[in-house]
Amino acid sequence: MKIPKRIQPLVDEGLVDEVLRPLMSGKEADVYVVRCAGEIRCAKIYKEADKRSFKKAVEYREGRKGRNSRRSRAMEKGSKFGRQEQEQAWQNAEVDALYRLAYAGVRVPQPYGCFDGVLLMELITDDKGFVAPRLNDVTLTAEQAQIDHKKVMKDVQLMLCAGLIHGDLSEFNVLLDHTGPVIIDLPQAVDAAANNNAKRMLERDVNNMTQFYGQYAPEILSTRYGKEMWALFESGKLTPDTELTGQFAESDKAANVDSVLAEIQAAFDEEQDRKERILQANEED
Ligand SMILES: Nc1ncnc2c1ncn2[C@@H]1O[C@H](COP(=O)(O)OP(=O)(O)O)[C@@H](O)[C@H]1O
Ligand SMILES: [Mg+2]
Repeated sequence: MKIPKRIQPLVDEGLVDEVLRPLMSGKEADVYVVRCAGEIRCAKIYKEADKRSFKKAVEYREGRKGRNSRRSRAMEKGSKFGRQEQEQAWQNAEVDALYRLAYAGVRVPQPYGCFDGVLLMELITDDKGFVAPRLNDVTLTAEQAQIDHKKVMKDVQLMLCAGLIHGDLSEFNVLLDHTGPVIIDLPQAVDAAANNNAKRMLERDVNNMTQFYGQYAPEILSTRYGKEMWALFESGKLTPDTELTGQFAESDKAANVDSVLAEIQAAFDEEQDRKERILQANEED
C-alpha cells in the first residue's frame, strides 16, 4: 500500500521495510501492520495533540517529569517549545512504559522503539496468526473469565510494583492472544508514587476489569483487588510475589476517630500534669 506520510521517515531510515495495511484508526492513534527486519509488526502513529480527544491530560500528566528543568518549566508554561516537549513526553511515555513493563514481566507487546511519533511494537496475534481480538469482542466461559481475571490482577500488581498505573484499562485496551490477556495502549500511564490521582485511577482500572470478567463469573464481582493492592503499596509491602486474596476489610473509621481522640486526650492530660508540676514547684519555692 501507499506509505503513510508519517511512516515515510522510518522507511527512509530503514526501520520499516514495508507497510502492509491499516489495522485500526482510533481516537488517539492510527495503527498499521508493517514489516520490519523480516518480521510482521505494528506501527502506532500518535495523532497530533489538537486531533486527540483526550480530555483529562492534566490529570494524567501530574508527577511526570521533563528531562531537565528548562523543559519542565517550558511544559508548565505551555509555550510553543513547551507544547512540543509535552507532545514528545506523551509519545515517549508509552514506549517507556512498554519497556518497563515487559521487563517487569507484564504481558504487553514487545516494543521496538518510538521514532518521530511512531511506535513500533509486536503485533499481537491469536493461535492462527490472525490479529488478536479485543476483549470486548469475545465471549468467555466462567472458567476462562476466572483465570484471565486473576492474570490481569497479577499484571496490575506487577505494574504497580514497577511504579505504574495504566490509567485507561478496560476491555477495549486488552487483547486476547493464545496465552491470555495482553495489555495495550499506555501513553497515559500514571506514576503511582507521584500522582495524587493514582489511587482513584488504580481502583477505576481494577473495577473496569472486574466488571467485565464479572459478567461471565459473577463471584468475581465481590473481589476488592484494587483496595487490597493500594493498601499494601502505600505501606511499602507490595512485592511482585505478594499473594493477593482479593479481599479487603475497610478500616473502621469510627475506631480511627476514637484512637485519635484518645491520643489528643493523652496529650492534654500530659500537659495538665506538666502545668501542675510547675505550679507545685513554684509553690514549694
Ligand atoms: N500491538 C498490537 N497488536 C495488535 N493490535 C493492536 C496492537 N496495538 C494496537 N492494536 C489495535 O489498535 C487499536 C488501537 O490501539 P490503541 O493502542 O488502543 O490506541 P487508541 O489510543 O487509539 O485506543 C487497538 O484497539 C487494537 O485493536
Ligand atoms: Mg485503545
